[in-house]
Amino acid sequence: MYKSIVPPANGLRRCIPFSTLLHTSSRTFPSVVNASARTTWNRPFRYPNCTPSYASRYSTMPTPTIKLSSGYEMPQVGFGLWKVANETCADTVYNAIKAGYRLLDGACDYGNEKECGEGVAKAIKEGIVKREDLFIVSKLWPTFNDPEQVAPVVKKQLGDWGIEYFDLYLMHFPGALKYVDPSVRYPPGWHYDGKSEIVRSKTTIQDTWRAMEGLVDAKLAKSIGISNFQAQLIYDMLRYARIPPATLQIEHHPYLVQQELLNLAKNEGIVVTAYSSFGPASFLEFDFKHAKALVPLMKDDIITSIAAKYGKQPSQILLRWATQRGLAVIPKTSRVEVMAQNLDCTGFDLEKEDLDKITAKDSGIRFNQPSNYFKTDMMWIFG
Ligand SMILES: NC(=O)c1ccc[n+]([C@@H]2O[C@H](COP(=O)([O-])OP(=O)(O)OC[C@H]3O[C@@H](n4cnc5c(N)ncnc54)[C@H](OP(=O)(O)O)[C@@H]3O)[C@@H](O)[C@H]2O)c1
Repeated sequence: MYKSIVPPANGLRRCIPFSTLLHTSSRTFPSVVNASARTTWNRPFRYPNCTPSYASRYSTMPTPTIKLSSGYEMPQVGFGLWKVANETCADTVYNAIKAGYRLLDGACDYGNEKECGEGVAKAIKEGIVKREDLFIVSKLWPTFNDPEQVAPVVKKQLGDWGIEYFDLYLMHFPGALKYVDPSVRYPPGWHYDGKSEIVRSKTTIQDTWRAMEGLVDAKLAKSIGISNFQAQLIYDMLRYARIPPATLQIEHHPYLVQQELLNLAKNEGIVVTAYSSFGPASFLEFDFKHAKALVPLMKDDIITSIAAKYGKQPSQILLRWATQRGLAVIPKTSRVEVMAQNLDCTGFDLEKEDLDKITAKDSGIRFNQPSNYFKTDMMWIFG
């Protein structure tokens, strides 16, 4: 049995030192449930302007943070911004902040960074948060991987957000594509001609990483990291990196556990953020056959029976499975009423046998890879 952590009476936010996080399937997360000796309590965290229904129904405890190798702390639960429509994005970001989210996960490729910035500006203007209360994440699209393009596009992205630095800036995918000027098309997408042509750049990942390190030196990003990288590239990067990647963002859900990659990250001090935690749910709109053919995770017998056992929603069980195993999560929802529910995924504990039952569903099924979106023989990133 695992005891719940009692939040401190003064309402301060809890920090989990990264060294205490466990990623292995055979062990759960004792240092967090037994955290009193090793956790520290940091910046004040409140839910100002939260409606009583959010606060009383879901926000039973503050969101923990994870300490990164850069020395900064990252909220363990954040809000995903992929496929948030431009028309509703500013309101969605504002409502997410109001619901208690402090980490916002954006990207050039999502095409909505201006609107994200409008939502942030409104929340700051109304006194709900200060800039320093937020942890804003964005990503470098491969079209901008040539070293001389990195800082200029980051400055453009910061301008879109209306902020002066990113808390975390990630290389979105490994492998550089030929530069497309933002005046031609922005965001540029995968294709050089905007239709079907994949054209690579000769830039190496090492060259791009040097420019990423320059962002930290120039105070344009506090921490830098990677996304969609696999073991060999990470081991290679750790040989040359002056600033090692603080985080690795990867697709992670019970149909794609990637345990060995998690083990690697833990061992190398890299915090893992899980994306697409609800598995196929995010990919149904692309008509992916394999996403449609699978049992939705929210309806899966194992997940629903565990949800009934703990009196939680299946979505909360999926998120808790990841957070209890030490990962950060960034669920996206367009529904205000679901935001607080998704955020409430660290304040209860699953028994080890339940964690293991979910982990055992691993089937190695990946949804987010370029070759699923368009026909090409040039983009086998996960091969
Ligand atoms: N680095 C990368 O390459 C990469 C790739 C993909 C995603 N990401 C990041 O990760 C974030 C999350 O991933 P994601 O957007 O793919 O998927 P996700 O958060 O796993 O799932 C989103 C889908 O689940 C639905 N949903 C959300 N909460 C729910 C709940 N409580 N019950 C039932 N359905 C729920 C949403 O619908 P509604 O909106 O209708 O609620 C939406 O269809 C992204 O937004 C993005 O920031 C990064």
